[in-house]
Amino acid sequence: MNQEYVEKAVAHYKELLLSQIERADRMNNVERPEKKAKTVIGVLGGDGIGPIITLQAQRALEALLKDEIAAGTMEIRPIEGLTIENRLAVNKPIPDDVLAAVKECDVLLKGPTTTPSGGTMESANVAMRRELDLYANIRPVQVPEEGIDWTFFRENTEGEYTLGSKGIEIPGVLTMDFKVTTIAGTRRIARAAFEFAKKNGKTHVAIVTKSNIMKKTDGMFSAICHEVAAEYPDIQVDEYFIDIMCANLLKPALRKTFQVILLPNLYGDIITDEAAQIQGGVGTAGSANAGDRYAMFEAIHGSAPRMIARGMGNYANPESILRAAVMMLRHIGLTEKAEKLDAAITKAQEVCPITGTVEGHTCQEFGETLAAMLG
Ligand code: IPM
Ligand code: MG
Repeated sequence: MNQEYVEKAVAHYKELLLSQIERADRMNNVERPEKKAKTVIGVLGGDGIGPIITLQAQRALEALLKDEIAAGTMEIRPIEGLTIENRLAVNKPIPDDVLAAVKECDVLLKGPTTTPSGGTMESANVAMRRELDLYANIRPVQVPEEGIDWTFFRENTEGEYTLGSKGIEIPGVLTMDFKVTTIAGTRRIARAAFEFAKKNGKTHVAIVTKSNIMKKTDGMFSAICHEVAAEYPDIQVDEYFIDIMCANLLKPALRKTFQVILLPNLYGDIITDEAAQIQGGVGTAGSANAGDRYAMFEAIHGSAPRMIARGMGNYANPESILRAAVMMLRHIGLTEKAEKLDAAITKAQEVCPITGTVEGHTCQEFGETLAAMLG
């Protein structure tokens, strides 16, 4: 009985290996997009509190970009259908029509999507990152009064995530998942982190792995990052293991020395929630998923099904998705508008605080306050 499973698993493994070699080859042959006269911003609501918070971000963008929209250089295009119900109905992490519509856009603002745990349904986020090859997950965290100004560069397409829904099971005995690290995939995220550091006057990059245990994958991630680092002699490079780095983020004197933090996918996922909590909660941080052709901006939190179940969806905090919208404006070169939105969000939080409870304001009230400030 086991023998049969083993043979199936070996055949499955061979297929995975070949598909990953092919992916690595594709990374070495990417096409650079041409600049277009019009930038299309696709807006995807997602699930749970997603449509509620995303709608207010869309309003803010419409107010902020009204001249560009009127002149035809920008378009805000809502895309329906990226819901858990539709995904389960077609048994695909992104329904085909949604993916086709997404690929017609340049940048995307996306609400959180629900990921069923277990089963084989892949996360819509992970699928989107793969389909659009959004390899850099950039997550800034700031606590100005403490001197904290971190930018995480999390590799976004490989590691434990690439084959996370394609593991092996020998029923009643064991399960096995795979972690994949490619040279091309590591080089491009390392390059993105060091280029960001150089362009933004950052003098320190911390490489974070668990290469003492994950010897092949993290060992290579670390080696390639150091290879790229050698091209940036003015930037100081330190290396930490992920466990101690999680502790370091809680040490006030040390943590303010970190600037750019470069790390593989899963560690980046975990530590950015910790970092966001230090900033004030996962509801406060935005996230960019950038590739060479597309970029997607989102809240770092999930769809909050418990909040919806308690009938509290209208009290969801749109701050994280709005901070993501700020990052999106910066990404498309609208730096002044980005600063304006950023400042307005902070101001709106003062006059119309959202607490996630009935004592605070609703998401819609917050959105109205904000749009009025931007209009
Ligand atoms: C994030 C989220 C996602 C991830 C989930 C929703 C798939 O936690 O963007 O950090 O694990 O990457
Ligand atoms: Mg996460």
